[in-house]
Amino acid sequence: MRYNIKSILRKHGFDTNLPYTNIYQNLYHALRDSIVFGTLNENEALPPTRLMAKDLGVSRSTVIKAYDKLIGDGFAWSKGGAGVFIAPKKMMALDVVSELKSTKEKRKPHLSKLGLKFSKRINLREERKSIPFRPGLPPLDLFPLVKWQTLSNEYWKKVTSSELTYYGSSGIKSLRKNIANYLKFYRNIECDPHQIVITTGSLHSLYLIFNVLVDKGDQVVTENPTYPNARKILEALQSKIFYAPVDKEGIDLESFRNRQPKLVYTTPSNQYPTGVRMSMDRRIKLNDWVQTKQSIIIEDDYDHEFSNWENPLPAIYSLNNDDRVVYLGTFNKLLHPSLRVGYAIVPNFMLDSVLALHQHSNRFISPYLQKTLNAFMERDYLNDHLRNIMEVTARRREIFVGYFEKHLAAHISLEEKSQGLHLIGKLNRNINDKDLSEYLGQNGIVAHPLGNYYKNPKEGNGLVMGYCSVNEILMTKKLRMMAQLVRSYKS
Ligand SMILES: Cc1ncc(COP(=O)(O)O)c(C=O)c1O
Repeated sequence: MRYNIKSILRKHGFDTNLPYTNIYQNLYHALRDSIVFGTLNENEALPPTRLMAKDLGVSRSTVIKAYDKLIGDGFAWSKGGAGVFIAPKKMMALDVVSELKSTKEKRKPHLSKLGLKFSKRINLREERKSIPFRPGLPPLDLFPLVKWQTLSNEYWKKVTSSELTYYGSSGIKSLRKNIANYLKFYRNIECDPHQIVITTGSLHSLYLIFNVLVDKGDQVVTENPTYPNARKILEALQSKIFYAPVDKEGIDLESFRNRQPKLVYTTPSNQYPTGVRMSMDRRIKLNDWVQTKQSIIIEDDYDHEFSNWENPLPAIYSLNNDDRVVYLGTFNKLLHPSLRVGYAIVPNFMLDSVLALHQHSNRFISPYLQKTLNAFMERDYLNDHLRNIMEVTARRREIFVGYFEKHLAAHISLEEKSQGLHLIGKLNRNINDKDLSEYLGQNGIVAHPLGNYYKNPKEGNGLVMGYCSVNEILMTKKLRMMAQLVRSYKS
């Protein structure tokens, strides 16, 4: 690929305004740093001296001198008439390279405390490609690609140049109205579309909400176990987290009744990851409690379509008439996580701050996505899809559970409480969940260690597994593989 050598060298300090006598040294340093810091790749040819001199506006003898010094110091080599080439990395003097790198690192500014805190608490490894049995995925093979493609094409056919502009952060009006309607019919929630904020998903909503509410040292309550990403944001913000146990009715209110937390983060429809459904009594008590405190509830209803399909219980949001519940929903679970569209119903007292933070970070969710999703809802494709996946997830769950009972019961006991997209398997043998998860991962099977969801990983030893993201044939094949791996696994 051709490159603009002047711009590359400028990045590494090349400056034509220096006095003539210093230009060769300056060019040498800029070329050397471009090589050491990887802007120019090993074994690539450097531009011919005449061309380089012309591009940089310097004399050819300056370029020749700089190239000769690069060759002399082992950063390049001359291949007779073919030109000058960048030396392979392994041929360069390692001590010179590491000295240059460390000097350059020292010149970088320190990261902020917040930046460091965030990076310490997150695992940024590349996402694994394997899908079975990653928790939280819907049946990806059922997403109606052709319908979506038709709607996308329609959008791009109709869009006018004036629509390619900036938009408001809360989201397009028609989508917010349709979400309000959807919540009314599918979740029995009445809300004002003006309080709905379109985000990239529930995690984004949590990030915005936590950031506008929590100062360093503030008390907050989360469930234990809980969604690790939510906990990591709260930790990075240096809040004082109280981890409330979860009993068979949901979050244990009595454990924090007398505390003064600023917020309570909860997943009542399908406690994450245990699958406990909060009882009606607990919902009412939690709602009564919050009205007596300077606090709010963050209700993460991340997979309510799945967990409330049969015998729905009201959202805490709809029990509350005091604007003290933030309700979070997402399309990333119902459709697919690569979509990146979700929403939050935000209490009025914090709406402006949430929108301001949204505007300063994400600005807004792509109108193309918002409008295509809106059309998807208006044509009832969402409704059709929902019915379709409900049937299929039930079937896949049956196969998954049946296989476990027949072939894996001696090693793993499935807990079948969860109505959502994942199941927990408790380990019967003396195996560490983290080690087993690693081992399965190396063999193409994803199963998250249950311990990761707890404040103290020792509190849970099991696997969290999604059971419905792939078709029945692949699922059975992977289950067979998993059974072999687990049976032969030696801790
Ligand atoms: C409990 C819980 N909340 C929120 C999310 C995030 O969802 P989204 O993909 O919409 O950001 C997840 C994702 O797994 C989750 O498990």
